[in-house]
Amino acid sequence: MSASPRLVILDTDPGVDDALALLYLRARPDLRLVAITTVFGNADVETTTRNALWLRARLGLSAPIHRGAATPLSRPRGPSPVHVHGDNGLGDIDLSGLDLAPPDNGEAHERIIEIVRANPGAVTLVAIGPLTNLALALRAAPDIADLVAGVTIMGGAFERGNITPYAEANVHNDPEAAAEVLAAPWPLTLVPLDATRPCVLSSAQAFAAGDFVREVTRGYAAAYARHEGLNGCVLHDVAALISLTRPQLFASRRAPVAVTTHGERAGQTVWALEGTPVGILIEADGPGLVEHFLRTIAP
Ligand code: BDR
Ligand code: CA
Repeated sequence: MSASPRLVILDTDPGVDDALALLYLRARPDLRLVAITTVFGNADVETTTRNALWLRARLGLSAPIHRGAATPLSRPRGPSPVHVHGDNGLGDIDLSGLDLAPPDNGEAHERIIEIVRANPGAVTLVAIGPLTNLALALRAAPDIADLVAGVTIMGGAFERGNITPYAEANVHNDPEAAAEVLAAPWPLTLVPLDATRPCVLSSAQAFAAGDFVREVTRGYAAAYARHEGLNGCVLHDVAALISLTRPQLFASRRAPVAVTTHGERAGQTVWALEGTPVGILIEADGPGLVEHFLRTIAP
């Protein structure tokens, strides 16, 4: 008999690669999506929540969607990366024509606490946006650190950043939240840019992967062509989900990680000498991961 599926709360800022992460989740019987919680990041939180609602309808998902943080814990929100994810946060694809329900009741961090407490030892939090909701949940209910099955985060960069030379976007968007989340005593796995950068979905692969992947990645791939000279786009958030199902595609280490919160290096993740050790998936088999993604989502 197969084991029961792992319960997943996806904390997300959709976002093109967030949309592909949902597509992957939908195709995995061993992962059960119990809630989607939204956060500002790739766009303001009204837009990322609307995008989550649109994706739920478009992909035929049924998980509740709870709106989360509109701003970082203690600083103003930075500009939205419209040059990467488009004005609408989803590569400027046409979002008309679907009836969207309003978000479900309950704020993101409150629902995270309730769901984790109701399912002790069973819920994996996967965060693929800024870490504000997770930090708010921990502040309000530190007991959840002992109750989660795991926390997997797409964030951080040890070699070079993407939003600044030092920082990765999710951590840079709320460095204080990231510092709190990375210091908490819970079973945490970080999937930094060092591992996600080689996970390139080529334009030919995207074209062959069906209407949805082709359309949603078009503008995102054009941004990667302009900024990084790539003929394709990077599946950052998908890599975080795949680390749950195919850990053998990653090389890992364990060490405490600190977050720089001030100055030009704000948002940088650095190895620390002291603190709670976290798992860091520092390298990935990018082509293997992309192949696994395409096989999984194939109809
Ligand atoms: C991360 O930032 C966002 O733009 C992506 O969706 C991903 O979560 C990559 O740095
Ligand atoms: Ca994201």
